[in-house]
Amino acid sequence: MSYSIPLFKLNFDDAEIKAVTETIQSQWISTGPKCEELERNFSEFIDVPFALSLSNCTSALHLAMKILDIGIEDEVICPSLTFAASVNSIRYVNAIPVFCDIISNEDLNIDPVKAEKLITPKTKAILAVHFAGFPCDMTAISELAGKYNLKIIEDASHAPGSEYGGRKLGSIGDVACFSFFSNKNISTGEGGVLLTKNEELYNRAKLLRSHGMTTMSYQRALGHATEYDIAELGYNFRMDDMRASIGIVQLNKLPEDLDKRQIIRQKYLNMLSQNNNLIIPFAKNTEFVTNYIFPVILKNSNKQKRDAVRHALHDAGIQTSIHYPAIHRFSVYKDYTKSLPITEYVSDNEITLPIFGTLTDDEIEYICDKLEEITRK
Ligand SMILES: Cc1ncc(COP(=O)(O)O)c(C=O)c1O
Repeated sequence: MSYSIPLFKLNFDDAEIKAVTETIQSQWISTGPKCEELERNFSEFIDVPFALSLSNCTSALHLAMKILDIGIEDEVICPSLTFAASVNSIRYVNAIPVFCDIISNEDLNIDPVKAEKLITPKTKAILAVHFAGFPCDMTAISELAGKYNLKIIEDASHAPGSEYGGRKLGSIGDVACFSFFSNKNISTGEGGVLLTKNEELYNRAKLLRSHGMTTMSYQRALGHATEYDIAELGYNFRMDDMRASIGIVQLNKLPEDLDKRQIIRQKYLNMLSQNNNLIIPFAKNTEFVTNYIFPVILKNSNKQKRDAVRHALHDAGIQTSIHYPAIHRFSVYKDYTKSLPITEYVSDNEITLPIFGTLTDDEIEYICDKLEEITRK
């Protein structure tokens, strides 16, 4: 079925087509000048000196674990209310995910108070996932990192442009990872970026991005090098220049798109304020954020009721989603099971409503009216 209101619409036009065409005509389509341009622009945008374009955010997270020397039996404190990739990256290096509950139904980010209780001598890092682009409590997380000598990895997949105390998210932790997957604020189909302030970490990530090779094809094509060594066991986690050229256009469009999303969120908040059956997470947030998604949570509900509401919205032509099925309940994570009561309630009762820059007032009104009608029953 095609929905009359989809969850998300691409913010693409002729500019992306032109950019890809020019890249193809340039004869350099793998990792080259466009990847470097995207890295420069993104590093300037977030205000972090070193950026590395990658095949996706999953590879960025994997590299983050590697360059921070997180390995066998090391523990990483992480949320369960996130996409599987956040936590899979911990397992790729044979480290142990230690699931931490979120703050509340109103604040869906990792709870630093609960996180502190989970710290052991094996804890190496905290993975801060900025849910929907809303900032984690980076002050408290940074304090924990200082007190217990931990690294901070920001999974800023939802947050390119979100702010925290005047700084952009992704500029606070040791390493930050961004996703440019199709439905993200910046979309290249597949793609991601790793950011760090530390040149040594950046150089190691760059080496590992491309098989551990000491020089890249583009450098050799320019005559800057003719040979290479394999210095470390690496991967192929490279982005290509076609995607990078889309990313450059998308990054230029981002500020305008974020402004539109902010207005849309405010309209949603106004219209849903009368609905007593809903909790709107982060309603009190005052930071500028990306509004990557618009989550709502049903009050006094359960999974069955939530699924029925989603079904009724589906019948009304409105596409919704769930962010997220809790990771600690997935089969592959059954051995790490913890009771995470708030995460579990949110996971069972959250509904993600459509949000994208061209969502109209009529569409927002239709969604809110339907939701009121369905949740009143
Ligand atoms: C929070 C979070 N982390 C990581 C990822 C993985 O990103 P990618 O698909 O670019 O590998 C996603 C993507 O959906 C995500 O939402």
